[in-house]
Amino acid sequence: MRQSIGRILLSENEIFQRVQELGRRISDDYRGEKITIVCVLKGAVVFLADLLRNLDMPADLDFIQVSSYGDETKSTGVAKIIQGLTVDVTGRHVLIVDDIADSGLTLRHLKESLLSKRPASVKLCVLLDKAARRTQSLKIDYVGFEIPDEFVIGYGLDYAGRYRGLRYIATLALPQE
Ligand code: IMP
Ligand code: MG
Repeated sequence: MRQSIGRILLSENEIFQRVQELGRRISDDYRGEKITIVCVLKGAVVFLADLLRNLDMPADLDFIQVSSYGDETKSTGVAKIIQGLTVDVTGRHVLIVDDIADSGLTLRHLKESLLSKRPASVKLCVLLDKAARRTQSLKIDYVGFEIPDEFVIGYGLDYAGRYRGLRYIATLALPQE
């Protein structure tokens, strides 16, 4: 199916401002603590890179990858960790950074899996929240923007591997049948 960029939901400047605010809040909340940031591959890497540069504190980094949607725009309902942590998070404050919370399944699964390693704490940070689609009860500690239930692309988010490099966030336009 052919698809293209739909309408712009969040401009480069809006994202820039909001990521700055999130960085300030997170730095304030963790003042004096050492944290380990766990970035969820691949969609969160662009957000992570900007967030990191807005943090005023030391932070260790690690990456985790969860099985993806493939080329679909709806969740398969399965979240499987396909690349795990490389550092020991026992006794550490962990901040999970992801691009978007949709059903919440991925983040819930990740949080539970990290909690089993007995960290000092686990918090969640997402750039985007499609709260209307949540099927899991999940507390997200830091949210950039709440967005409507539409498939979005750009600023790290892809459709079938495309559009991650866009500096803004847009809807995906699917052609009408
Ligand atoms: P959840 O497990 O249903 O919350 O799905 C979360 C994951 O699905 C995110 O980390 C994204 O990788 C992907 N995802 C959900 N909605 C979108 C979207 O609108 N655009 C691109 N990826 C999405
Ligand atoms: Mg993801």
